[in-house]
Amino acid sequence: MSLLFSKSNTLRKSVKITEEEFLQLRDFVYDKSGIYIDEKRKYLFESRFSRRLGQLGLTSFTDYIKFLRVDRGQELKQLFELVTTNETSFCRDTKQLESFRDNLLKEVLDRQRKTGRLELNIWSAGCSSGEEPYTLVFLLLETLKAEIARWKISITAVDLSEEMISKARTGIYTEYAFKTTPDTIRKRYFKEVEGGWELDPRIRKLVNFLPMNLNDALAVKRVPRSHIIFCRNVIIYFDDAMKRKVVQAFYDNLLPGGYLLVGHSESLHKVSQSFRPVHNAGAIAYKKEE
Ligand SMILES: C[S@@+](CC[C@H](N)C(=O)[O-])C[C@H]1O[C@@H](n2cnc3c(N)ncnc32)[C@H](O)[C@@H]1O
Repeated sequence: MSLLFSKSNTLRKSVKITEEEFLQLRDFVYDKSGIYIDEKRKYLFESRFSRRLGQLGLTSFTDYIKFLRVDRGQELKQLFELVTTNETSFCRDTKQLESFRDNLLKEVLDRQRKTGRLELNIWSAGCSSGEEPYTLVFLLLETLKAEIARWKISITAVDLSEEMISKARTGIYTEYAFKTTPDTIRKRYFKEVEGGWELDPRIRKLVNFLPMNLNDALAVKRVPRSHIIFCRNVIIYFDDAMKRKVVQAFYDNLLPGGYLLVGHSESLHKVSQSFRPVHNAGAIAYKKEE
Protein backbone atom coordinates (compact mmCIF):
# COMPACT_ATOMS: atom_id res chain seq x y z
CA MET A 1 0.00 0.00 0.00
CA SER A 2 1.19 3.55 -0.68
CA LEU A 3 -0.08 6.96 0.45
CA LEU A 4 -1.88 9.33 -1.90
CA PHE A 5 -4.47 12.11 -2.15
CA SER A 6 -8.06 11.26 -3.13
CA LYS A 7 -10.72 13.17 -5.21
CA SER A 8 -11.55 14.95 -1.94
CA ASN A 9 -7.86 15.63 -1.22
CA THR A 10 -7.49 13.68 2.01
CA LEU A 11 -4.38 11.67 2.65
CA ARG A 12 -5.02 7.91 2.84
CA LYS A 13 -3.74 4.49 1.91
CA SER A 14 -4.02 3.31 -1.68
CA VAL A 15 -5.20 -0.24 -2.45
CA LYS A 16 -3.35 -1.71 -5.44
CA ILE A 17 -5.41 -3.05 -8.34
CA THR A 18 -4.27 -6.10 -10.34
CA GLU A 19 -4.62 -6.32 -14.13
CA GLU A 20 -7.47 -8.83 -13.80
CA GLU A 21 -9.32 -6.65 -11.25
CA PHE A 22 -8.85 -3.58 -13.45
CA LEU A 23 -10.41 -5.33 -16.46
CA GLN A 24 -13.36 -6.58 -14.41
CA LEU A 25 -14.05 -3.20 -12.82
CA ARG A 26 -13.55 -1.35 -16.10
CA ASP A 27 -16.10 -3.62 -17.83
CA PHE A 28 -18.54 -3.26 -14.95
CA VAL A 29 -18.31 0.55 -15.05
CA TYR A 30 -18.71 0.55 -18.84
CA ASP A 31 -21.68 -1.79 -18.75
CA LYS A 32 -23.52 0.39 -16.22
CA SER A 33 -22.62 3.90 -17.40
CA GLY A 34 -20.99 3.79 -20.83
CA ILE A 35 -17.92 5.45 -19.26
CA TYR A 36 -14.81 3.79 -20.66
CA ILE A 37 -11.67 3.91 -18.53
CA ASP A 38 -8.63 3.42 -20.68
CA GLU A 39 -5.74 1.18 -19.52
CA LYS A 40 -3.58 4.33 -19.24
CA ARG A 41 -5.94 5.66 -16.58
CA LYS A 42 -5.82 2.52 -14.43
CA TYR A 43 -4.33 4.61 -11.59
CA LEU A 44 -7.72 6.36 -11.44
CA PHE A 45 -9.31 3.34 -9.79
CA GLU A 46 -6.57 3.14 -7.17
CA SER A 47 -6.63 6.84 -6.43
CA ARG A 48 -10.41 7.27 -6.36
CA PHE A 49 -11.63 3.99 -4.86
CA SER A 50 -9.16 3.29 -2.05
CA ARG A 51 -11.02 5.39 0.51
CA ARG A 52 -14.35 3.76 -0.44
CA LEU A 53 -12.86 0.30 0.02
CA GLY A 54 -11.60 1.41 3.44
CA GLN A 55 -15.07 2.69 4.42
CA LEU A 56 -16.56 -0.67 3.45
CA GLY A 57 -13.85 -2.57 5.36
CA LEU A 58 -12.60 -4.19 2.14
CA THR A 59 -8.91 -4.75 1.47
CA SER A 60 -8.93 -5.75 -2.20
CA PHE A 61 -10.65 -4.80 -5.46
CA THR A 62 -11.72 -8.46 -5.87
CA ASP A 63 -13.84 -8.10 -2.72
CA TYR A 64 -15.21 -4.77 -3.95
CA ILE A 65 -16.24 -6.26 -7.32
CA LYS A 66 -18.00 -9.13 -5.50
CA PHE A 67 -19.76 -6.57 -3.30
CA LEU A 68 -20.90 -4.57 -6.34
CA ARG A 69 -22.40 -7.71 -7.86
CA VAL A 70 -24.49 -8.64 -4.82
CA ASP A 71 -25.44 -5.09 -3.82
CA ARG A 72 -28.83 -3.94 -5.13
CA GLY A 73 -27.95 -0.61 -6.64
CA GLN A 74 -26.94 1.51 -3.62
CA GLU A 75 -23.23 0.99 -4.18
CA LEU A 76 -23.72 1.71 -7.86
CA LYS A 77 -24.59 5.31 -6.92
CA GLN A 78 -21.31 5.60 -4.98
CA LEU A 79 -19.48 4.09 -7.93
CA PHE A 80 -20.95 6.71 -10.27
CA GLU A 81 -19.75 9.48 -7.94
CA LEU A 82 -16.24 8.03 -8.09
CA VAL A 83 -15.97 7.45 -11.85
CA THR A 84 -17.42 10.74 -13.04
CA THR A 85 -15.42 13.90 -13.65
CA ASN A 86 -17.64 16.87 -12.88
CA GLU A 87 -15.46 19.78 -13.99
CA THR A 88 -17.61 22.75 -15.04
CA SER A 89 -18.11 26.49 -14.54
CA PHE A 90 -20.55 29.28 -15.45
CA CYS A 91 -20.15 30.65 -19.00
CA ARG A 92 -17.67 27.90 -19.88
CA ASP A 93 -16.33 28.39 -23.42
CA THR A 94 -17.54 31.94 -23.91
CA LYS A 95 -16.75 31.96 -27.63
CA GLN A 96 -19.04 28.99 -28.31
CA LEU A 97 -21.80 30.47 -26.12
CA GLU A 98 -21.67 33.88 -27.80
CA SER A 99 -21.78 32.26 -31.22
CA PHE A 100 -24.73 30.14 -30.08
CA ARG A 101 -26.60 33.20 -28.68
CA ASP A 102 -26.05 35.37 -31.76
CA ASN A 103 -26.79 32.75 -34.41
CA LEU A 104 -28.50 29.49 -33.48
CA LEU A 105 -30.57 30.69 -30.54
CA LYS A 106 -31.72 33.70 -32.55
CA GLU A 107 -32.66 31.43 -35.47
CA VAL A 108 -34.63 29.00 -33.30
CA LEU A 109 -36.45 31.82 -31.46
CA ASP A 110 -37.34 33.54 -34.77
CA ARG A 111 -38.66 30.26 -36.18
CA GLN A 112 -40.86 29.76 -33.13
CA ARG A 113 -42.15 33.34 -33.33
CA LYS A 114 -43.13 32.75 -36.98
CA THR A 115 -45.14 29.67 -36.06
CA GLY A 116 -46.81 31.61 -33.25
CA ARG A 117 -45.75 28.97 -30.69
CA LEU A 118 -43.63 30.77 -28.11
CA GLU A 119 -42.23 27.52 -26.74
CA LEU A 120 -38.61 26.49 -26.27
CA ASN A 121 -37.32 23.19 -24.90
CA ILE A 122 -33.67 22.82 -23.98
CA TRP A 123 -31.91 19.72 -22.66
CA SER A 124 -28.58 19.91 -20.86
CA ALA A 125 -27.28 16.33 -20.85
CA GLY A 126 -24.43 15.82 -18.38
CA CYS A 127 -25.10 19.10 -16.59
CA SER A 128 -22.83 18.40 -13.58
CA SER A 129 -23.64 20.87 -10.76
CA GLY A 130 -25.86 23.08 -12.93
CA GLU A 131 -23.53 25.81 -14.18
CA GLU A 132 -24.27 24.96 -17.85
CA PRO A 133 -28.11 25.01 -17.75
CA TYR A 134 -28.10 28.12 -15.55
CA THR A 135 -25.76 29.81 -18.03
CA LEU A 136 -28.34 29.04 -20.71
CA VAL A 137 -30.97 30.84 -18.62
CA PHE A 138 -28.66 33.89 -18.43
CA LEU A 139 -28.36 33.83 -22.24
CA LEU A 140 -32.13 33.58 -22.65
CA LEU A 141 -32.72 36.47 -20.27
CA GLU A 142 -30.18 38.62 -22.13
CA THR A 143 -31.74 37.76 -25.47
CA LEU A 144 -35.45 37.81 -24.72
CA LYS A 145 -35.46 40.47 -21.97
CA ALA A 146 -39.07 41.33 -20.97
CA GLU A 147 -40.43 39.16 -23.78
CA ILE A 148 -39.41 36.07 -21.77
CA ALA A 149 -42.63 36.38 -19.76
CA ARG A 150 -44.61 35.42 -22.88
CA TRP A 151 -42.56 32.28 -23.57
CA LYS A 152 -43.09 28.79 -22.26
CA ILE A 153 -39.53 27.67 -21.59
CA SER A 154 -38.56 24.21 -20.38
CA ILE A 155 -34.99 23.38 -19.45
CA THR A 156 -34.31 19.78 -18.49
CA ALA A 157 -30.89 19.15 -16.97
CA VAL A 158 -29.70 15.63 -16.20
CA ASP A 159 -26.59 13.98 -14.79
CA LEU A 160 -25.44 10.56 -13.64
CA SER A 161 -24.18 11.98 -10.36
CA GLU A 162 -26.93 12.45 -7.77
CA GLU A 163 -24.55 14.57 -5.68
CA MET A 164 -24.13 17.00 -8.57
CA ILE A 165 -27.89 17.15 -9.18
CA SER A 166 -28.47 17.91 -5.54
CA LYS A 167 -25.81 20.67 -5.59
CA ALA A 168 -27.41 22.12 -8.74
CA ARG A 169 -30.82 22.24 -7.06
CA THR A 170 -29.35 24.02 -4.04
CA GLY A 171 -27.87 26.73 -6.26
CA ILE A 172 -25.01 27.78 -3.96
CA TYR A 173 -21.57 28.03 -5.56
CA THR A 174 -18.01 28.75 -4.48
CA GLU A 175 -15.46 30.96 -6.24
CA TYR A 176 -14.34 28.07 -8.49
CA ALA A 177 -17.66 28.03 -10.38
CA PHE A 178 -17.01 31.61 -11.55
CA LYS A 179 -13.55 31.09 -13.02
CA THR A 180 -14.84 31.64 -16.59
CA THR A 181 -17.57 34.10 -15.65
CA PRO A 182 -17.76 37.87 -16.20
CA ASP A 183 -18.29 39.78 -12.93
CA THR A 184 -21.46 41.36 -14.30
CA ILE A 185 -23.14 37.92 -14.33
CA ARG A 186 -22.26 37.25 -10.70
CA LYS A 187 -23.48 40.72 -9.65
CA ARG A 188 -26.71 40.38 -11.59
CA TYR A 189 -27.85 36.91 -10.61
CA PHE A 190 -26.12 35.96 -7.32
CA LYS A 191 -26.16 37.06 -3.70
CA GLU A 192 -23.23 36.46 -1.35
CA VAL A 193 -24.14 34.06 1.45
CA GLU A 194 -22.19 32.06 4.03
CA GLY A 195 -20.10 29.52 2.12
CA GLY A 196 -20.46 31.07 -1.32
CA TRP A 197 -22.82 32.71 -3.75
CA GLU A 198 -26.52 31.92 -4.01
CA LEU A 199 -28.28 31.98 -7.35
CA ASP A 200 -31.48 34.03 -7.59
CA PRO A 201 -34.27 31.50 -6.73
CA ARG A 202 -36.35 32.78 -9.67
CA ILE A 203 -33.64 31.46 -12.01
CA ARG A 204 -33.23 28.24 -10.05
CA LYS A 205 -36.91 27.45 -10.59
CA LEU A 206 -36.55 27.63 -14.38
CA VAL A 207 -34.43 24.47 -14.57
CA ASN A 208 -35.78 20.98 -13.97
CA PHE A 209 -32.90 18.84 -12.63
CA LEU A 210 -33.09 15.03 -12.76
CA PRO A 211 -30.60 12.27 -12.02
CA MET A 212 -30.35 10.27 -15.24
CA ASN A 213 -28.01 7.77 -16.86
CA LEU A 214 -27.54 8.51 -20.56
CA ASN A 215 -26.88 4.78 -20.94
CA ASP A 216 -30.48 4.10 -19.91
CA ALA A 217 -32.38 4.19 -23.21
CA LEU A 218 -35.83 4.18 -21.58
CA ALA A 219 -35.05 7.06 -19.21
CA VAL A 220 -33.60 9.12 -22.08
CA LYS A 221 -36.78 8.60 -24.11
CA ARG A 222 -38.80 10.32 -21.37
CA VAL A 223 -37.03 13.68 -21.87
CA PRO A 224 -39.37 16.15 -23.67
CA ARG A 225 -38.55 16.69 -27.37
CA SER A 226 -35.99 19.51 -27.59
CA HIS A 227 -35.19 22.45 -29.84
CA ILE A 228 -31.66 22.58 -28.45
CA ILE A 229 -29.44 20.01 -26.72
CA PHE A 230 -26.22 20.85 -24.93
CA CYS A 231 -24.02 17.85 -24.23
CA ARG A 232 -20.61 19.37 -23.71
CA ASN A 233 -17.56 17.58 -22.34
CA VAL A 234 -19.48 14.36 -21.68
CA ILE A 235 -19.01 12.07 -24.69
CA ILE A 236 -15.22 12.28 -24.29
CA TYR A 237 -15.67 9.78 -21.46
CA PHE A 238 -17.48 7.27 -23.70
CA ASP A 239 -16.16 4.77 -26.25
CA ASP A 240 -17.34 4.91 -29.88
CA ALA A 241 -20.26 2.48 -29.41
CA MET A 242 -21.64 4.49 -26.47
CA LYS A 243 -21.07 7.79 -28.32
CA ARG A 244 -23.12 6.44 -31.23
CA LYS A 245 -25.92 5.25 -28.96
CA VAL A 246 -26.18 8.56 -27.08
CA VAL A 247 -25.89 10.75 -30.18
CA GLN A 248 -28.62 8.70 -31.91
CA ALA A 249 -30.84 9.26 -28.85
CA PHE A 250 -30.19 13.02 -29.13
CA TYR A 251 -31.09 12.90 -32.82
CA ASP A 252 -34.36 11.12 -32.02
CA ASN A 253 -35.13 13.60 -29.26
CA LEU A 254 -34.44 16.75 -31.30
CA LEU A 255 -37.28 18.47 -33.12
CA PRO A 256 -36.67 19.13 -36.84
CA GLY A 257 -34.41 22.17 -37.24
CA GLY A 258 -33.00 21.62 -33.73
CA TYR A 259 -29.35 21.82 -32.71
CA LEU A 260 -26.93 19.64 -30.77
CA LEU A 261 -23.92 21.36 -29.21
CA VAL A 262 -20.94 19.35 -27.96
CA GLY A 263 -17.70 20.47 -26.28
CA HIS A 264 -15.03 22.22 -28.35
CA SER A 265 -12.69 19.20 -28.14
CA GLU A 266 -15.48 16.81 -29.19
CA SER A 267 -16.74 15.97 -32.66
CA LEU A 268 -19.41 13.81 -34.28
CA HIS A 269 -16.97 12.80 -37.00
CA LYS A 270 -17.21 8.95 -37.23
CA VAL A 271 -20.08 9.01 -34.70
CA SER A 272 -23.06 10.14 -36.75
CA GLN A 273 -23.76 11.13 -40.33
CA SER A 274 -27.33 12.21 -39.55
CA PHE A 275 -26.59 15.80 -38.56
CA ARG A 276 -25.44 18.71 -40.69
CA PRO A 277 -22.43 20.47 -39.13
CA VAL A 278 -23.02 24.22 -38.96
CA HIS A 279 -20.06 26.60 -38.53
CA ASN A 280 -20.50 30.04 -36.96
CA ALA A 281 -17.69 32.28 -35.71
CA GLY A 282 -15.31 29.41 -35.03
CA ALA A 283 -17.89 27.23 -33.25
CA ILE A 284 -19.49 24.07 -34.66
CA ALA A 285 -23.00 22.86 -33.89
CA TYR A 286 -24.96 19.94 -35.35
CA LYS A 287 -28.31 20.52 -36.97
CA LYS A 288 -31.16 18.08 -37.45
CA GLU A 289 -32.55 19.09 -40.83
CA GLU A 290 -36.12 20.36 -41.01
C1 LIG B 1 -16.96 17.29 -17.32
S1 LIG B 1 -18.64 17.33 -16.83
C2 LIG B 1 -19.32 18.46 -18.02
C3 LIG B 1 -20.32 19.40 -17.41
C4 LIG B 1 -20.89 20.45 -18.38
N1 LIG B 1 -21.61 19.83 -19.45
C5 LIG B 1 -19.80 21.34 -18.92
O1 LIG B 1 -19.40 21.19 -20.07
O2 LIG B 1 -19.30 22.18 -18.17
C6 LIG B 1 -19.24 15.74 -17.41
C7 LIG B 1 -20.52 15.30 -16.73
O3 LIG B 1 -21.07 14.20 -17.45
C8 LIG B 1 -21.70 13.34 -16.52
N2 LIG B 1 -21.85 11.99 -17.07
C9 LIG B 1 -20.88 11.09 -17.39
N3 LIG B 1 -21.43 9.94 -17.82
C10 LIG B 1 -22.77 10.11 -17.78
C11 LIG B 1 -23.88 9.27 -18.08
N4 LIG B 1 -23.72 8.01 -18.51
N5 LIG B 1 -25.12 9.77 -17.91
C12 LIG B 1 -25.32 11.04 -17.47
N6 LIG B 1 -24.30 11.88 -17.15
C13 LIG B 1 -23.05 11.43 -17.31
C14 LIG B 1 -20.76 13.39 -15.32
O4 LIG B 1 -21.39 12.99 -14.11
C15 LIG B 1 -20.30 14.84 -15.30
O5 LIG B 1 -21.02 15.62 -14.39
